[in-house]
Amino acid sequence: MPSLPRLTEMAHWLVSLWIRPGDFAIDATAGNGHDTAILARLVGLSGRVLALDIQPEGLENTRLRLVEEGTFGEHIKLVLADHARLEQVASAEWLGCVRVIMFNLGYRPNSERPVSTGLVTTLSAMGQSLGLLAEGGLMTVVAYRAHEGGESETQAILEWAMGLDDRLWHVARYDLPNIRSRPPILLAINKRKQKSLDKNFGHFP
Ligand SMILES: C[S@@+](CC[C@H](N)C(=O)[O-])C[C@H]1O[C@@H](n2cnc3c(N)ncnc32)[C@H](O)[C@@H]1O
Repeated sequence: MPSLPRLTEMAHWLVSLWIRPGDFAIDATAGNGHDTAILARLVGLSGRVLALDIQPEGLENTRLRLVEEGTFGEHIKLVLADHARLEQVASAEWLGCVRVIMFNLGYRPNSERPVSTGLVTTLSAMGQSLGLLAEGGLMTVVAYRAHEGGESETQAILEWAMGLDDRLWHVARYDLPNIRSRPPILLAINKRKQKSLDKNFGHFP
């Protein structure tokens, strides 16, 4: 019997629609490496992946996962850094060239010292991501609401995303409306192509 996909699986499915071999992709919250692993598989050896985390254990788990899958190499950059420094870490070479940027917020599962994302640094990183994305590119954000600080972080992200100019950005929201235990949400933010703007200024799709 099929069951509905988890929001993290939905995010993986979305990025698989966007990424082609040779693309640049960023995982802004590497954690245990599940998202980085998908990105590495999709961009292939000719692409590049940049993954950030503020926890060394997270980056090591990510490296081990990629080594195990045979996708680790020089084209994969794992950086111990706050994603509030994303532009600086990515450097000018990545500006406007990134096909997909993934955020998976909250705590790293099975972490001995749980460190959660926080709304100030998250919003800063998301703002920087807008400039890093290529035209047509996609940002995915899985935001959790049940942990301390999660609800306010999620609300701040929603408010920020709803304020994005619809002539430049399309925002989709996926959620689980009848689940009572404050379930996560998934946002997908698409940087519109200039060409489609000329033809169809300001209107969806
Ligand atoms: C839910 S986990 C990410 C899961 C991961 N994407 C995966 O596929 O396994 C969230 C991660 O964000 C990291 N984090 C928290 N604040 C951060 C920040 N300011 N900059 C970068 N990473 C951060 C945490 O250390 C944690 O590993």
